[in-house]
Amino acid sequence: MAFNQAFIEELIARSDIVDVVGSYVSLSKRSGQNLFGLCPFHNERTPSFAVNPSGQFYHCFGCGKGGGVINFIMEMENLPYPDAVAFLARRAGMTLPEETRDPAGRLRKRVLEANREAARWFYAMLSTPEGKRCTDYMAARGIAPKVARRFGLGYAPESWDALRTALTGMGFSEAELTEADLIRRSSHGTYDTFRDRLMFPIIDVRGDVIGFSGRTLGDKGAKYLNSRDTLVYSKGRNLFALNLAKKSKAGYLILSEGNIDIVTLHQAGFDSAVATLGTALTAEQARLMSRYTGEVILAYDADAAGQKASQRAIGVLERLDMKVRVLHLEGAKDPDELIRAKGPEAFRALLEGSADQVDWRLEGVTAKYDLKQPDQKVAFLKEATELVAALPGAVEREVYAIRVADLAEVTREAVVSEVERRRKRRVTKAQREEQAQLLRPERLSQPGARELRYADPVSAAAEEGLIRLIMLDPALAGDEKLPEPGDFSSEVLGRIYGIVRERIAGRESVDINVLAGMLTPDEINLLVGILQKPERLSESGRALRDYAAKIRERHEEQSSALDLNELRDRIRERKGYHS
Ligand code: UTP
Ligand code: MN
Repeated sequence: MAFNQAFIEELIARSDIVDVVGSYVSLSKRSGQNLFGLCPFHNERTPSFAVNPSGQFYHCFGCGKGGGVINFIMEMENLPYPDAVAFLARRAGMTLPEETRDPAGRLRKRVLEANREAARWFYAMLSTPEGKRCTDYMAARGIAPKVARRFGLGYAPESWDALRTALTGMGFSEAELTEADLIRRSSHGTYDTFRDRLMFPIIDVRGDVIGFSGRTLGDKGAKYLNSRDTLVYSKGRNLFALNLAKKSKAGYLILSEGNIDIVTLHQAGFDSAVATLGTALTAEQARLMSRYTGEVILAYDADAAGQKASQRAIGVLERLDMKVRVLHLEGAKDPDELIRAKGPEAFRALLEGSADQVDWRLEGVTAKYDLKQPDQKVAFLKEATELVAALPGAVEREVYAIRVADLAEVTREAVVSEVERRRKRRVTKAQREEQAQLLRPERLSQPGARELRYADPVSAAAEEGLIRLIMLDPALAGDEKLPEPGDFSSEVLGRIYGIVRERIAGRESVDINVLAGMLTPDEINLLVGILQKPERLSESGRALRDYAAKIRERHEEQSSALDLNELRDRIRERKGYHS
């Protein structure tokens, strides 16, 4: 923990959790002292995300995520602890004492600096003799120099060590460059990651260069090489060109898949185009987009793979209640080819006429059936009403239900009520799935699932209780009958308990926000979950002794069982030796 406590306390005092969370999630009073909203960390339809204003923490009863205001920013903005502190400090108008940045934060900063210098260096390489190869390529692809500059495009020359030499010359260490994935290690030493490639810097919404994507100029290796995930970069959480697109006045974002497509789109005036970075659209990326717009227009490749990716993206975006439209490129494989062949107007025309995703799907369903045949009409109605039932808005459902009724020439009332019947069934099914999802083993951050992993659930319950009690009433931590962390059956609970007790003894704060700097995010989730469980503070003294006794009793049973096992093993060993 590198920030001093007074600073963190001041920061927390100036960052009310209701205000901070409220700027991302709409909260309403529902029950008890908690405010509720839809959890921003998992998909849900009924609010299970609680914010506790008096305790200044949040907890999702669905996915188990929880913490203080700093944890919230860590999760929401995808930042490590020191950066989340800096983020909140900026928001609260406080200056960050420079020397309080911790070592991990310092490395992050160095990685960002190395990336920025690398981008500058790649750009400068364009005007060298070697770089002509790349400027020729850009010219052949029709990329204007002005646009290349806007994107900060550059050239990584065909060399194993030119970038490394340049950057170590500026004072960057090989460790820093490896961390940035600008160089990689092999058994022969290190080598430049990107060679003979057109370089696309990936710049986040704060303007930091977080990684690179390099397109080959020759035929060596993969067409694109992308930075690995690093301290500052995560493929699934960022979008190419969002730094530019977020300033667009278009009112929607265009989502495509190719870096070249994005450059061409911007050059043609479609300045709200962004792309995923070589992976399918993730929920995090969709959430990131939803911060800037409520509407996304998909412009994926026209081939089968592109259409499939499109369908998946629709699902991801709709779950966040975003409006989605799909562009159908005709006579071109991707936006770049379309604009090159037919000009920006052709793309504009598609954009303006771009079918609402619902129309498009409904057309597809209608085309499948001959509505003059009664049996086909029934099949059509079944499929079409199912499609309409999936629409999030009630008005939308009614409008399309009427359209379906007219197409099939049946009464509107019959279709509307069929849609609502299917709607109810879907909602129940979705809730059941959401429930099942929570119980899946990969959701281990979820306290419920974690408890399942406790080796000794009986002792763990008491261990959790003990932690809860001393957090809620620190005066109890002085009790000399308390067990030691080593008596705990759960290592993680023992660790949390040890830290909390030590801090209380040292008269230091055990505020969740301060602990967030010492515990892992998973541990914080677990701790907040523990604090949310009910506790009868009126009988705290007795509860404390009960918990302590239970922990010690289980611990002793455990250790004597171990002793017996050991004894048995030793006897066996001796027998084996003699026979
Ligand atoms: P495309 O092959 O469509 O690339 O891959 P593109 O950008 O349109 O390039 P051109 O026009 O063919 O030259 C789409 C995206 O998929 C990722 C990249 O992000 C690329 O922009 N990709 C593709 C990779 O990550 N690795 C690859 O080897 C290929
Ligand atoms: Mn493409």
